[in-house]
Amino acid sequence: MERFPFDAFVSKTITIEPREGNPPPRLWETAGGMINSIGLPNKGLEGFLESDLPELAELPVPLVVSVMGFARDQLATLVERIGQRDEVGLIELNVSCPNVETGLVMGADPVETARAVDRVRPLTETPLIVKLTPNADEPPAIALAAQEAGADAVSLVNTLKGIAFDPRSGRPWLGGTTGGVSGPAIRAIALEQVRAVAARVEIPVIGMGGIACGRHAADFLTAGATAIAVGTENFRDPAAGRRIAIELAALGSTRTSV
Ligand SMILES: Cc1cc2nc3c(=O)[nH]c(=O)nc-3n(C[C@H](O)[C@H](O)[C@H](O)COP(=O)(O)O)c2cc1C
Repeated sequence: MERFPFDAFVSKTITIEPREGNPPPRLWETAGGMINSIGLPNKGLEGFLESDLPELAELPVPLVVSVMGFARDQLATLVERIGQRDEVGLIELNVSCPNVETGLVMGADPVETARAVDRVRPLTETPLIVKLTPNADEPPAIALAAQEAGADAVSLVNTLKGIAFDPRSGRPWLGGTTGGVSGPAIRAIALEQVRAVAARVEIPVIGMGGIACGRHAADFLTAGATAIAVGTENFRDPAAGRRIAIELAALGSTRTSV
């Protein structure tokens, strides 16, 4: 805790109702990364506020709480309640889920994204980050819609949709059938999406996707990110944040953004 390796911490995504998550197996190691089908297990809003938040608030860095709603009203409740808590520095809207009202993935459609941000924006003064999915036709258009509806930042990329088959049975390996690909395997795609989004919006862009060392982090900054996040690399090196920061600082700031 004293040597916490990151400058901020993003929670797992929480939903209104508790969720068990997907049946196992939930992970598949793939070339240069992994596929996960965790399925957002969480204690639900009340459980999070009662038992997870007090523990997360002990972290010596700002806390970002990630929320997902399957309808705009759910998202509104989550943002309003989480935004009332002083322990929470920022809220991240994970919009990579279908809206049960329209059947559209909120974050795959600019109009849906704008409606979601519009709905929650007046409910809190806590800064809002919209986390973009790479499984969309035009992430820059989604990012622009989020900015115009009042988002304070966008983050990208979430995982890319993938599947793995059990070599013995030939059936899907993951309990959730499909999963999200992350890690170095997706870095080139993430970098280009970050570049394209950063070129379109004025709000800060938080870049991620396969960052495993300072050089990778520098590439995301070159692509236009203002901050970077690290997911999969923590499975390999739990102190990855500190190491990457040191490596990045050692590179100096000799590059300019594209
Ligand atoms: C095991 C695992 C669980 C994840 N859970 C979430 C989540 O709850 N909410 C979310 O927005 N993204 C989640 N992600 C996506 C990551 O935050 C990140 O966007 C993605 O993995 C790309 O970064 P990376 O290659 O550094 O992991 C998860 C990724 C992994 C590997």
